[in-house]
Amino acid sequence: MVAPQLTVNGDAMAIAPAPPHTTALDFLRERGLTGTKEGCAEGECGACSVLVARPGVNRPTDWVAVNACLVPVAALDGQEVVTSEGLATDGGPGRAPTLHPVQEEMAVRGGSQCGYCTPGFICSMAAEYYRPDRCAHAAPDSGDSTVHADAGDSTVHADAEHGPNGFDLHALSGNLCRCTGYRPIRDAAFAVGAPADEDPLARRREQAPPAPVATEYLQGDGAFLRKDTLAETLRVLRERPDAVVVAGSTDWGVEVNIRSRRARCVVAVDRLPELRALRVASDSIEIGAGLTLTEIERRLDGDVPLLAELFPQFASRLIRNSATLGGNLGTGSPIGDSPPVLLALEASVVLAGEDGERSVPLAEYFTGYRQSVRRPGELIRAVSIPRPLSPVVAFHKIAKRRFDDISSVAVAFALDIADGVVRKARIGLGGVAATPIRALETEAALEGRPWSARTVEAAALVLRSSGTPMGDHRASAEYRAAMLGQSLLKLYAQNTEAVSS
Ligand code: FES
Ligand code: FES
Repeated sequence: MVAPQLTVNGDAMAIAPAPPHTTALDFLRERGLTGTKEGCAEGECGACSVLVARPGVNRPTDWVAVNACLVPVAALDGQEVVTSEGLATDGGPGRAPTLHPVQEEMAVRGGSQCGYCTPGFICSMAAEYYRPDRCAHAAPDSGDSTVHADAGDSTVHADAEHGPNGFDLHALSGNLCRCTGYRPIRDAAFAVGAPADEDPLARRREQAPPAPVATEYLQGDGAFLRKDTLAETLRVLRERPDAVVVAGSTDWGVEVNIRSRRARCVVAVDRLPELRALRVASDSIEIGAGLTLTEIERRLDGDVPLLAELFPQFASRLIRNSATLGGNLGTGSPIGDSPPVLLALEASVVLAGEDGERSVPLAEYFTGYRQSVRRPGELIRAVSIPRPLSPVVAFHKIAKRRFDDISSVAVAFALDIADGVVRKARIGLGGVAATPIRALETEAALEGRPWSARTVEAAALVLRSSGTPMGDHRASAEYRAAMLGQSLLKLYAQNTEAVSS
């Protein structure tokens, strides 16, 4: 087995002797790449954003921005990373480097003042710059920073959050700036063109991404392991019951940084081929537990409308580029965003163990606060969603900020309404009990009844009393209960006419 190493800005770097819990952020900074900054160390500010070459959705490789503060550097064994320092190109002997187009636009449009957040913005912006779907809408980059503000395909949908160049501002939702203000940053984002043909990172997209490599990284009393197959991984989990399983490490990274937790053994599962399949059949959709949320979002492309509502509200693009459904269910958090949606979709969890697989309805999966029926040694291999899908859906996340926030309450609806009557209702709730729950009494109060104001108002009263919401620093118990009822009234207001015939 080759000693663990990664490629950073084209240079191979050995990971040893960094301890296995070392984050990519600390690793890069200790090697002098101090453009990558630490702001929060918990995935909320984006100052640590770097680019990683990952399997592409529409091309062999996508450049994906991730939070370097959360990912253990050992998880990047065999992979290619580009930091803000690697985006500019060498200007030759005695000459200043040539800025990358996103750096150029940020500079000329005043997108940086103190500069602390800027390298992170640059990397997130560069990932969006290279997104193939966006490039189709943008005029080629000419190197002239004055010409792109109005450039692009006039058919592209442009609004406050989408530029005429196809730039989706949500690519920056995980990046915070304390001093510049966001308008100049948005101006820069909406001004970039399409990469030039000779752009090395654009050309890199046409080649295969680095293949997954098995990793056995042992330093001191810590180990970071990545196996080639599910069977080998399950064997390790039997032999090492103390192992912490990680996929994108967006949860474990916070534990390491903020709570100083250390594991004797970390086992990575996000690159296992068995966990990375997406199968769409006539009667179900099976989503691999190791696919990132961004991959699911782009590969489903709206085929599951309730998931399409969920994704933009799930943390930030930076987090969604690493986070997985397996991780969100595996942590068992009562305020995870995906469980209410998956409950409303009547999803099942496919659990894999050395003895074989079993499928458990998600409604029976959670058994208590951060507890589930998953046995020691079992892994979540996939999530299966039955078809057909109910057509009237909504995901209401009540939080203090519109994006990149933790929900106070989350409600997901999936309803069948025919001839003005509710034929089927499935409602998933988060943030109102020790586990995510189905609102069974409210479902019963809707099913078989006319989709009318009277039915909905009565059912909203039932929904208000669902679960056992608590008061905390995010919201009072009374507020949470009120939001539950309000959520159903909002669903009705938004779907009165659409389903009344
Ligand atoms: Fe804030 Fe990584 S340092 S997201
Ligand atoms: Fe100062 Fe963004 S430029 S924090």
